[in-house]
Amino acid sequence: MNRMETLATLAASVSAPAYVRHPRLMGWVREIAARTQPERIVWCDGSRAEYDALCDAMVASGTLIRLSEEKRPGSFLARSDASDVARVEDRTFICSERQDDAGPTNNWRAPAEMRATLDRLFEGAMRGRTMYVVPFSMGPIGSPLAQVGVEITDSPYVAVSMRIMTRMGRAVVEHLGSDGAFVPCVHSVGAPLAPGERDVAWPSNSEHKYIVHYPETREIWSYGSGYGGNALLGKKCLALRIASVMGRDEGWLAEHMLILGVTSPAGDKRYVAAAFPSACGKTNFAMLIPPAGFDGWKVTTVGDDIAWIKPGPDGRFRAINPEAGYFGVAPGTSYDSNPNAMETLKANAIFTNVALTDDGDVWWEGMTKEPPAHLIDWQGRDWTPESGRKAAHPNARFTAAATQCPSIDPSWDDSAGVPISAFIFGGRRSDTMPLVVEAPNWEAGVYMAATMGSETTAAMAGATGEVRRDPFAMLPFCGYHVGDYFGHWLKMGTAVAHPPRIFGVNWFRKDANGKFVWPGFGQNMRVLKWIVGRCAGDAKGHETPLGVMPDFGDLDWSGTAFPPERYAQAVAIDRDAWGRELKAHDELFARVGPKQPPALASERSRLGGRLSR
Ligand code: GTP
Ligand code: SPV
Ligand code: MN
Repeated sequence: MNRMETLATLAASVSAPAYVRHPRLMGWVREIAARTQPERIVWCDGSRAEYDALCDAMVASGTLIRLSEEKRPGSFLARSDASDVARVEDRTFICSERQDDAGPTNNWRAPAEMRATLDRLFEGAMRGRTMYVVPFSMGPIGSPLAQVGVEITDSPYVAVSMRIMTRMGRAVVEHLGSDGAFVPCVHSVGAPLAPGERDVAWPSNSEHKYIVHYPETREIWSYGSGYGGNALLGKKCLALRIASVMGRDEGWLAEHMLILGVTSPAGDKRYVAAAFPSACGKTNFAMLIPPAGFDGWKVTTVGDDIAWIKPGPDGRFRAINPEAGYFGVAPGTSYDSNPNAMETLKANAIFTNVALTDDGDVWWEGMTKEPPAHLIDWQGRDWTPESGRKAAHPNARFTAAATQCPSIDPSWDDSAGVPISAFIFGGRRSDTMPLVVEAPNWEAGVYMAATMGSETTAAMAGATGEVRRDPFAMLPFCGYHVGDYFGHWLKMGTAVAHPPRIFGVNWFRKDANGKFVWPGFGQNMRVLKWIVGRCAGDAKGHETPLGVMPDFGDLDWSGTAFPPERYAQAVAIDRDAWGRELKAHDELFARVGPKQPPALASERSRLGGRLSR
């Protein structure tokens, strides 16, 4: 036998721990090992000891930098390759048998063609590396709303990140028993090592990247990237793209939404779910601290990125956060903008692509008003405020356990989920969309969400700041035809006796000087209070062509002296801008094609009519 055959045989013969009693799982692991030819196989049990050992090994190899035990206990910094810093939407594929099932918003390849491509790439892809088998549950283990996945990865960074982001390890395998269902997820950084070849700190493949989903067989294959949603396959790949297909088939919703609880001074508690595109404020909103003047109001965090929502036995939607941690945008996060996030990050966090301070702590743009006099930037270079470049990458992220968040909701881990009173949709728009509006009804709300536009952000590789349509904040995450997805949402409005009200918000409107009109962050509580007030039936508003909007006097201005003229700017409806906006809606619908539900065409003409009156 030559060396490669020896390794393949070795890999295939490595046995699973005794607690693995699932022949199909073991067979699949053997098959992937034979194909990718890793040097060794490790079944992750999810223990603290295993996590510590993996982190120690990554510190030794240079992948992680241990931060100051005093400043940032139990925490690490990772610096990615400069070509591997965000999700790669143009390399993300939905490989359904028929192209029409992937629809116009997804990259499609025929499954057979894609399998041939991936067969070539994965052949020997893990040579010289350790293959980690990472069993994980999205949602509380055993919850009727949860799903199990198993990620095979050659990245120890992914293995430790999955321990923070999901319920990971032995308990999941035990839950699977001998025949439980799991979504197979295969991940390689695509950088096999030749015998004796030295590894780099962040292995990845700058030439070939493929983030691939087979919705019919519910499989995920990811090659060439070690970053975020490209590599932590439970998140966007399973919990959104594959889960959206499950939801379509089984009558539930998998959405790019935060979930928060609002409690009034009287003790009335409601939960809302809000969809904002990537890097548009979900984490901030989910962890909001009410401003001065809102004594007795409390906001609690269920989730900051993904919601799975099913019709409940009481005629209301029930939602869970399928994740167990936050992979949040670091830049802009500060004790001013998001104190709860800062507290969450005090210890046991993994930071990726932020700057390193001289005393072994982290820094990023916006963390403090004054930047430190000297830093090591995200690419490992010396940095001073005069450098003229960013110290942290704009899509630098933190990874931290949900349980560390001071505002965590007592029911965040509840298997039954929390009841949802309102859905909120909000893009990043410098004009057009007002601060807040309530859709007249479910269909109009679906129309508003479907036509949402937003400026692109650093969360995706490519140009930023361009307005694009991002229906339901799901453009890069819907695993099937977007027209069918709209139809599914319309149908779900009749799946429960008490469908949530639907609202649109925009924190990002700018004035003529390019300044945000609305102060945002904690001040968003004023809008949130109005929204839950509408749900309770006691907040007033007035009809506009877009829906019901609050007058200045309908919002609670306790503790501030916000100028009414400024408010008028935040809510004004510019008919010319809306003329252009409707054209953009029409372009989207032309792209959606024949699968566009007729109900949305009716909404389009009603909205056009109201705006031209
Ligand atoms: P993903 O994790 O990428 O899905 O995004 P997210 O929606 O959770 O993003 P996050 O909350 O981390 O958004 C970060 C960006 O939104 C930063 O640029 C913040 O400064 C900005 N941001 C958040 N809330 C507000 C707000 O109320 N007003 C303004 N102007 N900016 C905000
Ligand atoms: C997003 O881009 O919406 C994220 C970050 O939440 S990632 O996990 O990288 O997709
Ligand atoms: Mn996201």
